[in-house]
Amino acid sequence: MATSKLAAFVVLAAFLAGPAACEGASICFNGWLRTPRFCPRGSRLNRRQRGASPSGLGLGYGYYNNRRSPSYCPRAEGIVRGAVSEAVAANPGIGAGLIRLFFHDCFVRGCDASVLLTMTNSKNNDTEREGPPNKNSLRGFEVIDTAKRAIEAACPGRVSCADIVAFAARDASYFLSNRRINIRMPGGRYDGRESFANETDQLPGPFSNVTELQASFAAKGLTSDEMVTLSGAHTIGRARCMFFSSRFSEMDPTFAAKLRAQCNGNDNASVNQDDVTPDVLDKQYYRNVIDRKVLFTSDAVLNSTETMRQVRENANRAGAWERKFERAMENMGKIGVKTKADQGTEIRRVCSRVNN
Ligand code: HEM
Repeated sequence: MATSKLAAFVVLAAFLAGPAACEGASICFNGWLRTPRFCPRGSRLNRRQRGASPSGLGLGYGYYNNRRSPSYCPRAEGIVRGAVSEAVAANPGIGAGLIRLFFHDCFVRGCDASVLLTMTNSKNNDTEREGPPNKNSLRGFEVIDTAKRAIEAACPGRVSCADIVAFAARDASYFLSNRRINIRMPGGRYDGRESFANETDQLPGPFSNVTELQASFAAKGLTSDEMVTLSGAHTIGRARCMFFSSRFSEMDPTFAAKLRAQCNGNDNASVNQDDVTPDVLDKQYYRNVIDRKVLFTSDAVLNSTETMRQVRENANRAGAWERKFERAMENMGKIGVKTKADQGTEIRRVCSRVNN
């Protein structure tokens, strides 16, 4: 009896010990799973464990316009704006993709363009792009590459891919909001040299509850209000049925019936996130939350007591959400930024790979 108790204890201890003892269990994609698995460290996120608010120290507005700086490249921001304008005019969905790309970059290793890498300094090719939240989902890479090529031709080795991602998200927000959202986006980020698929478990998932959402934003130094504000980006773009087909019964019945028909049993089919104004970055999302016309659990839970007040305010007060979104996007762009040239940073020549 004593021996079997000891054996059980050894197995449990090995499981809780982490990756070596229990492959895969320490990386927790619970928010991305319809039926969450028990993860020993999945609970490492705690709402009270707030990271320091991102300072953005070392970043500056008009960073590339300073004649006396070695980073001088006055055409940089204009080139990005041109590339984004063209891409969004051809397909607004790419603009949505660019805004999401920025979020997924900043939440993993800070805004350092690690999300763009396909090959890293440590010769790892299982990069963030391969992580469950990103694979077969992120889009807009070609816009970043187009802008980067033109910028390298104008001023080689000066403008980071991380800044291009940030400027592109700002510009996509501008065009998709019919010029109502104007984010002040500083520059001066350096590019990172590492990227790992398993670190994308820091991204909140569509099955996350309010506590998990708040915790994942707090871990990056962002507030619950910023979480609610930034979720408003789900008023554009598309989402695959696998992330919401389990909750048709919780939605507005007419909305659910329409989605059911669009998905038609195919989990890989995709639908517009906002059925009312699908291509406009506006506050419609909050009306949809109230009306139970949103897709994910992570959207629907914003109607809970803790966050309902912000949802109502964003839905009802003209201009309130737009101003908050501008500030929150700027703040997100300060998360974990690298602003000095050192061993772990560089200005990449090609955004998808490190310089060597
Ligand atoms: C709050 C937690 C969030 C969760 C759980 C979440 C989850 C998701 C999921 C599951 C999708 C659909 C992906 C697919 O079907 O492949 C999606 C799409 C999208 N998300 Fe989020 N997201 C969150 C926050 C954000 C934030 C902060 C932003 C930007 C500020 C954002 C912007 C977008 C956009 C624009 C799309 C559509 C992308 C496209 O059409 O290519 N999301 N999100």
